[in-house]
Amino acid sequence: GPSGPLTGPLAGRRAIVTSGPTHEPIDPVRYIANRSSGKQGHAIAAALARAGAEVTLVSGPVTIAPPAGVTVVPVETAREMLAAVEAALPADLAVMAAAVADWRVAAEGAEKIKKAPGSEPAPLHLVENPDILATVSRHPKRPSLVVGFAAETQNLLSNAAAKLARKGCDWIVANDVSPGTGIMGGDRNRVHLVSAAGVEDWPEMSKDEVAARLVQRIAGSFSGSLG
Ligand code: CTP
Ligand code: CA
Repeated sequence: GPSGPLTGPLAGRRAIVTSGPTHEPIDPVRYIANRSSGKQGHAIAAALARAGAEVTLVSGPVTIAPPAGVTVVPVETAREMLAAVEAALPADLAVMAAAVADWRVAAEGAEKIKKAPGSEPAPLHLVENPDILATVSRHPKRPSLVVGFAAETQNLLSNAAAKLARKGCDWIVANDVSPGTGIMGGDRNRVHLVSAAGVEDWPEMSKDEVAARLVQRIAGSFSGSLG
């Protein structure tokens, strides 16, 4: 029906997914952003919906189509993303796949910054953005399963394990995004599932296949002790 499947392993479960980059304005015509196509996060939202979950997809600016059967909340900045995620709570599970910009400009210019010939450009004063994954992981309305991502260019597994502990989430999907891997912007991914139980290395597969396998694992965790 129009509201999506009522059956499936995650029927009756509410899910929140973040996806895409965030854009942090510098002035009315410029912004700071991360590289992110949104492909992996959108594929996870679609797979959760196919498994019967009621999905809210909080998406930064992307050019790909919104998946069928999910409620999309479009946002621009990290602060908007956090507000949209908190507004979507309570939920049974959350998957934070967005590439959130770590910093924003302290004071967004109301007018376009102009070049001043012969003088140095003014430095940008940056401040740290809120950490959406860490906030949700320690939230009074914390979902029973919180999954984060770790995109690294070095020390992949040790950085991912440190993030798991620091952010208080249950699982981290870790991937190597070094330029040589060709992962960024592509349709394939090679990830490692990091949890308190240890590290699972998954073979390289399409982003859709990573999403399907992750959702299978999520469904398994709800059919076990959490269900
Ligand atoms: N994340 C988030 N909010 C932020 C920064 C990151 O929710 N402000 C989430 C991402 O969506 C991802 C996870 O945290 O699920 C890890 O993001 P990552 O950028 O790898 O970690 P950081 O803690 O920002 O560390 P760093 O960029 O320094 O490696
Ligand atoms: Ca970051």
